[in-house]
Amino acid sequence: MEIKRENWGSRLGFVLAAAGSAVGLGNIWRFPYLTGENGGSAFILIYLVFVILIGISVMIAEFSLGRSTGLAAVGAIKTYSHRFTFVGAMGVISAFLIMGFYPVVGGWALAYILESVTGLYALSPEAIGDTFGNFITGATQPLIWMLVFLALNILIVAKGIKGGIEKAAKVLMPTLFILLIFISIRSLTLEGAGEGLSFLFRPDFSLVTGQTFLAALGQAFFSLSLGMGAMITYGSYLSKKETLPGNAVIVTVLDVGVALLAGIAMFPALFAFGMTPDQGPGLVFVVIPGVFAEMGGLGVLFGTIFFIALSVAALTSSISLMEVVVSYLIDQRDMQRKKAVYGTGVVMAIMSILASLSMGVFGPLPVLNVGVFDLFDILSDKVFLGLGGMFIAIVTGWVVNKETLRKELTNDGNKSFALFEVWHFLIKWIIPPAIFIVAIFGIIDIEETAVMLLGIAIVALLAIFSKKLH
Ligand code: PFF
Repeated sequence: MEIKRENWGSRLGFVLAAAGSAVGLGNIWRFPYLTGENGGSAFILIYLVFVILIGISVMIAEFSLGRSTGLAAVGAIKTYSHRFTFVGAMGVISAFLIMGFYPVVGGWALAYILESVTGLYALSPEAIGDTFGNFITGATQPLIWMLVFLALNILIVAKGIKGGIEKAAKVLMPTLFILLIFISIRSLTLEGAGEGLSFLFRPDFSLVTGQTFLAALGQAFFSLSLGMGAMITYGSYLSKKETLPGNAVIVTVLDVGVALLAGIAMFPALFAFGMTPDQGPGLVFVVIPGVFAEMGGLGVLFGTIFFIALSVAALTSSISLMEVVVSYLIDQRDMQRKKAVYGTGVVMAIMSILASLSMGVFGPLPVLNVGVFDLFDILSDKVFLGLGGMFIAIVTGWVVNKETLRKELTNDGNKSFALFEVWHFLIKWIIPPAIFIVAIFGIIDIEETAVMLLGIAIVALLAIFSKKLH
């Protein structure tokens, strides 16, 4: 099916946009605190194995589904198999679930730009921690910032995929990278920093459980923007001249590089400040300002730029989440872009308001025993993305014709992809059962069993009624 799509402005534009989707709060906010909660380097090692064995292959699969059909997630999967239409629907639900809490954290990042210039770095590490706790549990402030963040998303996505996104990403992604290197150097030279390095690089497997594997797999998918069709959608905009495996490797290396750098920036300082690694979701908002506080006047400057860059990194990811839903509404429901964006934005705003209030004002939900924020987080990253990735692998390996894939991945034989057979073997035989096994062991070990079962029930219902979805 040949459908005329907008293409990316340039090769660099695509890589930056796809890397912009991948690099976000997942790397700088989520990766460090998960590492802290899951005991450090053993978690990182498992995460890296999953990225290399599963992540890169699923990314190549998503790019090929998108580019070969020229359609976004739902349409691309439907083109190959009506039976698996529900996988596209899962992707749309995942995008909503993630956008039910991502703007909340994006709002925190925006708020910290202002905090940076209003005296945050004059405080002691404990007072910086208290400031964060008071801020996120408040009723109005986090809501306002969340809405600002969401409004920015709506503005950018309403304008279409090119233009603003590419330009902002080109300047601010490299800035973020350089800043992280700079913060890492400062963090490593603090007294008592060595302990942080051994926490990061000396594995202790005694802490590893089934839950650790599930968390690492979920993080690999979340961080690489996989398992929900975001990369199918981006792939559908990619020109026929590009090599898909090469782009997948570049995006993955950049993504993992930023996550590891964020870890190196945070853990040495955390130990130097005498904090424990299990700080939870506040880690980046407490430890990084602590490092800036050590820098005197320069800290204010770097801190401000850091939180601007973090907000932009969050934006380049959240627009790709929104684009999954919007492109579905445009491609499959014939909706106009603007209408699709506004409608989607309203639903996401309601979900994010509930998530934000669950940090302080509301307690945990009855029966499920978690707050709304955690509910969206667990459902998306521990159920939907992993299972979504598994089904994408199944569709690619078992439904799509192998020669179609070979042609797509070698640009009709014009480019070489020496590892094609290895990739196809992984996608067909190894990745689906591997994800299945991780999910089973994760469910056995996880505390939030009720949430996991709810998620699996939703996926099962979608699969059963797949043919009715269109
Ligand atoms: N990869 C993004 C991050 O690490 O922050 C989050 C994300 C974006 C997940 C797009 C999934 C997605 F489709």
